[in-house]
Amino acid sequence: MEITDARWHIAGGYGMLATDIIAALRARGVEPVVTDRDDLDITNPAKVARGFADADVVVNCAAYTAVDAAEEDEATAFAVNATGPGVIARACAEMGLRMVHFSTDYVFAGDATTPYAEDSPLGPKGAYGRTKAAGETQVRDSGADALVVRTAWLYGRGGPCFPKTIARVGRERGALQVVDDQVGQPTWTRDLADLILRLVEAEAPAGTYHGTSSGQTSWYEFAKEVVASAGLGDIVSPSRAADQKRPAPRPTYSVLGHDALSAIGLAPIGDWRERWRLAAPEVLADVAG
Ligand SMILES: NC(=O)c1ccc[n+]([C@@H]2O[C@H](COP(=O)([O-])OP(=O)(O)OC[C@H]3O[C@@H](n4cnc5c(N)ncnc54)[C@H](OP(=O)(O)O)[C@@H]3O)[C@@H](O)[C@H]2O)c1
Repeated sequence: MEITDARWHIAGGYGMLATDIIAALRARGVEPVVTDRDDLDITNPAKVARGFADADVVVNCAAYTAVDAAEEDEATAFAVNATGPGVIARACAEMGLRMVHFSTDYVFAGDATTPYAEDSPLGPKGAYGRTKAAGETQVRDSGADALVVRTAWLYGRGGPCFPKTIARVGRERGALQVVDDQVGQPTWTRDLADLILRLVEAEAPAGTYHGTSSGQTSWYEFAKEVVASAGLGDIVSPSRAADQKRPAPRPTYSVLGHDALSAIGLAPIGDWRERWRLAAPEVLADVAG
């Protein structure tokens, strides 16, 4: 599908990832319809059906992303992460619209030692992951022409994220401890936005894709890159996840493979470190000292 011929609707359109999807579309001369909870609550079937009447592609960026809070309020997380995507997907199926939906590395158990494939068995350990896994199922079961794109460790200019926190707290305290025994793929929202446009343009078959950077690193190594970009010197030391008490469990191993992209001739996002170095000036602009 030609990006510029399609009418795009971005639901949950004021979040971090949505910011860069909207920017990527505008850079191509497309003005999408953008809605958030107040205009179009994705859990409300009547609003959803009416809201998409003029769309060709619906991108669902709406989500309940507070991983720790979800442990105490799984019902609300389920409504946004599972019921809502199901409502959107069934509306898209009925109206013949292309849907893009986002999921997460948290749907996996996080105890693997080689990258998770798109069809690896799910095994979420916490409430957020359970609700996102249920959302994937609802989208797939709807029969919609849907791309389910799992991502992880997102950062971008459009929202709070790990690099902004590290740069801010590092500057305030002058020393930081960051966990070294959880690995994953830091991913720039701008790169993921570009991947979504490439998937839609290529008319990728409905199915599950992994939208993360290539390579892998630990939070500690990523933090060291961030403080270097922020000009803060050697202020990060490693710690262990077991020493941190957090309500929701975090996956130890969050590395996702990209075979489904390669199979349709699309390049995965590049190496996380190269991408971070390009992203840093834009992402850290708000927290510059
Ligand atoms: N951030 C990450 O590291 C990460 C990692 C893996 C996967 N993901 C996935 O990537 C996607 C985008 O994440 P993000 O970080 O951009 O999320 P985000 O910044 O938290 O944005 C989510 C947006 O959804 C809105 N929303 C919540 N409930 C809604 C409802 N019922 N109807 C309409 N809008 C609603 C939120 O509005 P309010 O602010 O009003 O609540 C917010 O603007 C999500 O599917 C997320 O699960 C993110």
